[in-house]
Parts: sequence; C-alpha cells; structure tokens
Amino acid sequence: MTGSDAARRLARAKMLGERFVLRLPVEERAVTMDEPFDLNDSSKPAEFDEAAWTTVRDEALGCTKCDLCRTRTQVVWGSGTPRTGIMVVGEAPGYHEDQQGEAFVGRAGQLLTKILAAIGFGRDEVFITNVLKCRPPDNADPLPHQVESCEPYLKRQIAIIDPAVILTLGRHAARTLLGVDSTMGAMRGRVFRYEEVPLVATYHPAALLRNPKLKRPTWEDVQLAREIYDEEMERRGKKIYPNVDFFSASVYTTLGIAMDLFTPIFAMSRVTGWTAHLFEQYANNRLIRPKAEYTGPRGLKVEPLENR
Ligand code: URA
Repeated sequence: MTGSDAARRLARAKMLGERFVLRLPVEERAVTMDEPFDLNDSSKPAEFDEAAWTTVRDEALGCTKCDLCRTRTQVVWGSGTPRTGIMVVGEAPGYHEDQQGEAFVGRAGQLLTKILAAIGFGRDEVFITNVLKCRPPDNADPLPHQVESCEPYLKRQIAIIDPAVILTLGRHAARTLLGVDSTMGAMRGRVFRYEEVPLVATYHPAALLRNPKLKRPTWEDVQLAREIYDEEMERRGKKIYPNVDFFSASVYTTLGIAMDLFTPIFAMSRVTGWTAHLFEQYANNRLIRPKAEYTGPRGLKVEPLENR
C-alpha cells in the first residue's frame, strides 16, 4: 500500500463519517525509498466500495431526517452507474422522479439525456442524482434545513464514486456544493473544486426549456466538463472513451458544425476539433488503448474557491 493509497483511504473514511480506521500491519504501511510517499500521486484507481454504497443507499432509502419523508412517494437515490468518472447533480426530484424513483426522467431529464449524449455519455455511463433525495411538495425550492439533512448522502455518494468531474445543474446544486450565494452566470464557465474533485456548474435543463438562449453557454460548460473528465481519467490511467458508434459520431459532428455556423470566427477550429474528437472516440472504441501517460494540465482554468 502506498502513501497515497493510505491518504485516500483516510480521506474517504473521514468523508464517510467513519470514526475508526483499521490499522494495517506495519510492513504494509512501510514506505521505502523505492516507493516514495507522494500525496499527489493518484495514478492508481481506487476500487469501488460496493458495501459502503449499499449501506449508505439503504440508509437514505429509509431516511426520516426531514419533513419531506412525510410527503414523498419514494426516495430518489439516483440513476445510472456509480462505477463512473462523472457525476451529475441536480436540485431535487420532481413529480415524475418521485413517482418512478429515478432521477431526471421528466422533460428536463429527457433534455439532460440529449446533453449527455452530445458529449459522448449514455445515461447508463454516468451517475445522476440530486442535492435533495425527496421531492419538495409543489417543486418548491429546497429549504436550508432540508439541504442540511440531505447533503451528507450526497457527500458520501461523491466519496464512494470518487468521480473525475462533477457537473452541477442549476443554481441550487452549485450553491449547495460550493457554499456560495452567487448567480448561475457567475458560477458557470469555470472549474471549481469540491472536496478536491473538479466541479463545473451549468444551467438546469428546465431553465433551457424555458430559455433556449441558455443552450449555447450550457453547451460550452458540458464540453468543459468532458475535457476535464478526459484529462483526469487519462491521469488515472483508465479507459476514457465511451461507446460512440459511427452514426452518432456523424450526427453529433453535424450538429456541432451547425451550431458553429452561428459563430463563424471560431468555426474552423471548433469544427475540426469536434470532428477529430468524435471520430477519435469512435476509433478508440475499436482499439485497445495503451495506458496513457499523464502529460500534465493542458492549461485548464482551475480556480480555487477563495479566488471567486
Ligand atoms: N429536476 C431536478 O433537479 N432533478 C430531477 O431529478 C428532476 C428534475
């Protein structure tokens, strides 16, 4: 076990609210000159902790910590797979989610599915959840005491999944995770960190349904999230390319070209970048990709919270 493994175990245990961490035998904890103690080395992917996941989920499914337990039909824990590098976090379940027990299945959810597809993810390749796991009556804004009761579940989901990037949807999710009181316009288009995990905030799909002008900035934000995902997954040495078939690659490239026609100045670079990226995904889906070397950040703008 390396020093970084130990540090990660400790950080995760802390976040899961565990009071005791098992001490390993001395020889397993020993750090030799051949194996320097490097806190920044996260090249070994942590194993997904199925038992911890099930424990936290079962706890949430029976939660009675706030008033929403009396009005909910069911707890909406989340949808997709926890064995993923990307987590999408919305505000709270709505009517359809409350009925079906799945996150983002209404109109906003259908749009979210399309947005994710446009950056190469199927719904079953990501984990989608909300700050609140129960529906507020009449879809009211989450109240502070409800957020306070529910946020620990989200924190533990994040700790167990250990995503490469978190994408928040809407003001409430971003404000909750970043602990700030900013506007969506001020929070989007940047990279923050939540418990060391890169976080990109963008508009809620429901806002896009009301105001299509928000589609362009949302599009930029999700592309940024995708870029960070690729970079971080490459750094972790994991396979980064989801299944993109030839047809989808062509459709998304055409859509990208159509969107870029509205901004002629950037059109050429964006169009070529898009095409190359999507066809690279298509090609890599067919090849066994060698474990990539981490080449360092490619000039991403990562801003610590205190610089806001
Ligand atoms: N809006 C959200 O924020 N979450 C859902 O799950 C559905 C709609």
